[in-house]
Amino acid sequence: MPTADLDTLKAEITTAINAASNEQALDAVRVGALGKKGSVSALLATLGKMTPEERKTAGPAINGLKNELAGLIDAKSAELKTKALEARLAAERVDVTLPVRPAATARGRIHPVSQALDEITAIFSDMGFSIAEGPDIETDYYNFTALNFPEGHPAREMHDTFFFNEGPDGTRKLLRTHTSPVQIRTMQQANEKPPAAWMTPSQTPPIRIIAPGRTYRCDSDQTHTPMFHQVEGLVIDKTSHIGQLRWILEEFFKAYFEVDEVKTRFRPSFFPFTEPSMEVDVQCDRSGSEIKIGEGSDWLEILGCGMVHPNVIRMAGLDPDEYQGFAWGMGIDRIAMLKYGMPDLRAYFDADQRWLDHYGFRPLDLPTLFGGLSS
Ligand code: DAH
Repeated sequence: MPTADLDTLKAEITTAINAASNEQALDAVRVGALGKKGSVSALLATLGKMTPEERKTAGPAINGLKNELAGLIDAKSAELKTKALEARLAAERVDVTLPVRPAATARGRIHPVSQALDEITAIFSDMGFSIAEGPDIETDYYNFTALNFPEGHPAREMHDTFFFNEGPDGTRKLLRTHTSPVQIRTMQQANEKPPAAWMTPSQTPPIRIIAPGRTYRCDSDQTHTPMFHQVEGLVIDKTSHIGQLRWILEEFFKAYFEVDEVKTRFRPSFFPFTEPSMEVDVQCDRSGSEIKIGEGSDWLEILGCGMVHPNVIRMAGLDPDEYQGFAWGMGIDRIAMLKYGMPDLRAYFDADQRWLDHYGFRPLDLPTLFGGLSS
């Protein structure tokens, strides 16, 4: 093959290499020249048919061309790779001076009621209580009768109950007016033999439960909403007594209000399901703009409690000659209000994002006794 033809071929392929704008185009040039059926490979195949004399000059010339082109292609490939990387780096560049967009966990807020509930459960769990629940839609039996409210007793009227329409069996269901029905449900289940599989040991006698949840009464003003939250406490054992009740409640107040000492005052009261019944006041100071618990010489009513009435224990299926206990009921919204200084209960349920931004809690700051309840 004349050298001039080799030069032309070389010039053509070199131009094609230089023109290749990406790896694919370059690969097409490589296959066209150096692949099995490529133009340079075809030339190499002609060597076999040449005379030794011809081969002497043509061999090194064609092989030289092959090597030279391979070198050019490699160099071009490296150049294209660098360019591609640079283009990618430019396209995917991150402006580190931009402010970080807050993640959902940083923007969301925990409602003060949920926060108070988490704090309450943390404190009572630490004392060995477990959590019990009951339905929001209750029967008259669980909400009143089993709790020793006699038929037609005026205490039933005081509850401003929301009743449903009469069902096919002639009875009217209701929205529970308090969490006390969970006392009955827990004692009944504790009495099942064997106990329900889901029950924790403290839901079988001796019983130590708290029952937080929604409650409903037809009432609405600055300190009452038709739906509100209560937490019930129940301890049933063979020797439970008021001294233990008082200790538990005082320990709770200290932990919840995050103060070293809180004086309490137990005043006689009346609830059909306890005998004796008491209302508990906590020591507070009202001299400033906000109420301070655990200071001063004023009193604030905070919950109702008492020794569980023998009729209630009997109606729940336990023997009141064997078991006795105490119970209490407390408004969660109210004690959240006291701790976090929210003036109007109705705002709790307005779903106003600005209110929640102000009074809400950060979602990952879970209240624990060791890590701090509200810090
Ligand atoms: N259930 C009562 C209420 O809603 C509160 C209460 C008082 C609960 C005394 C109790 C208790 O368990 O012993 O007004």
